[in-house]
Amino acid sequence: MSSNRFYIETHGCQMNVHDSERLAELLRQRCAMIQTQHPEAADLLLLNTCSVREKAQQKVFHCLGRWRALKQGNSDLLIGVGGCVASQEGAALRERAPWVDLIFGPQTLHRLPQMIAARRREKLPVMDISFPEIEKFDQLPTPRTEKPTAWLSIMEGCSKYCSFCIVPYTRGEEWSRPPEGVIVEAQQLAAQGVREITLLGQNVNGYRKHNSNGEVLRLSDLIRMIASINGIERIRYTTSHPLEMDDDLVAAHAEVPQLAHHLHLPVQSGSDRVLALMKRGYTALEYRDRVRALRRAQPDLSLSSDFIVGFPGESERDFEDTLQLVRDIGFDQSYSFLYSARPGTPAASLPDNTPQERKRERLAQLQTLLSQLAETANQRRVGSRQRVLVTGSSRRNPSELQGRTTDNRVVNFPAPPDISLIGEFVELSITAVRAHSLRGELTAYQEQQRGEATLATPSSSVAASAPLTMIAVQ
Ligand code: SAM
Ligand code: F3S
Repeated sequence: MSSNRFYIETHGCQMNVHDSERLAELLRQRCAMIQTQHPEAADLLLLNTCSVREKAQQKVFHCLGRWRALKQGNSDLLIGVGGCVASQEGAALRERAPWVDLIFGPQTLHRLPQMIAARRREKLPVMDISFPEIEKFDQLPTPRTEKPTAWLSIMEGCSKYCSFCIVPYTRGEEWSRPPEGVIVEAQQLAAQGVREITLLGQNVNGYRKHNSNGEVLRLSDLIRMIASINGIERIRYTTSHPLEMDDDLVAAHAEVPQLAHHLHLPVQSGSDRVLALMKRGYTALEYRDRVRALRRAQPDLSLSSDFIVGFPGESERDFEDTLQLVRDIGFDQSYSFLYSARPGTPAASLPDNTPQERKRERLAQLQTLLSQLAETANQRRVGSRQRVLVTGSSRRNPSELQGRTTDNRVVNFPAPPDISLIGEFVELSITAVRAHSLRGELTAYQEQQRGEATLATPSSSVAASAPLTMIAVQ
């Protein structure tokens, strides 16, 4: 039988989603394999999962249980587990799920073709969860995409060792990718029609690397260099650590027009006592100070954040401090999680007297507040005009298009009948707010081919109701 179809299931953060995309590209280019969306049709089943919170870890074992049944009907089927869970569980995973053939970590996914070959040759399970530096980026194939947006990894790992977090143990110490490789990849993406790049890493504002002239480059330098690439009109970066939000990066928000008006800046808690126990390295006041500087640089900046509720020893007062910080800063579209003790992390052995039920109530209270703030921010946009990058068809209604605003909001709008706008920037007038998105109407668009802007005149029913004007192209 043929053995050329693979299926990947991904759980976890953007980093994992991006790793899975690179993995798929590797299997297509190096092993001539084809991706399938149906596990029953695959010869290779891959699970790429994060272990930041316990739930994700439980999902792995549920999924592997289901896949075991598929293997019983097909002895040639290979099962692989990658990502942080693989790094963390390693040998234990082999014991609990001996039917798994391949175990690889976030820093060894590029070795999968050799691991598959070894498994087929030797008929023995293969495990490689080491942290070989640099090698990964040199050996992954050039990314191929037809989408107008792309992620670009600029660093790996994390050395912050927040007391609750497993990432430094599963992804290894922080290291920055040489700037030359980053710029070449950005140019390759631009040449394929990418208009918006998100620079990716656990701590992207900790980026520091010598270039070939021996100069140390920081994230702000990379941003300025990428902004000068023809075709790249929008740049985002995630995730950042408040401690490394230096003045030069803040200044880039004022000076680089391509930098999106949105920043995800995880704060975790509004209480200095809890922040110290978390080993975050800043106080709530210092966080507020960075936000003030950022808003001075870019008054339109929308800020989102991560919060952990129910950290060991979090008191009612500590939780109130978090709510107050949220109200004062007016966060937008944020993530909040119930604390999950990760084995081996320092916080896992801290005394914790708060009942789980009370923690859940706090989480619900915080989420209600965050939703109200996001709803208010959405409502404020009704009636405004927004520059939107059209990313594809709307998920619910294929006759509509979907795009993203500079402040990271999804907008759906009726597509003009006779022109393809995917990959273009358009101007939309925001007409309404939905649960997780905005609705808009097309008021202007620009058409751009290979970096050359061409103004075009659409004829559409939308144009009849709302006169179209052309956006001035920089
Ligand atoms: N690099 C980011 C930063 O600067 O904080 C965080 C990356 S972490 C993988 C993503 C988010 O998961 C964190 O911001 C935190 O809110 C959450 N998280 C991490 N460990 C957690 C734990 N043990 N329990 C609950 N949430 C956790
Ligand atoms: Fe985790 Fe803290 Fe790094 S949350 S990823 S150890 S910045």
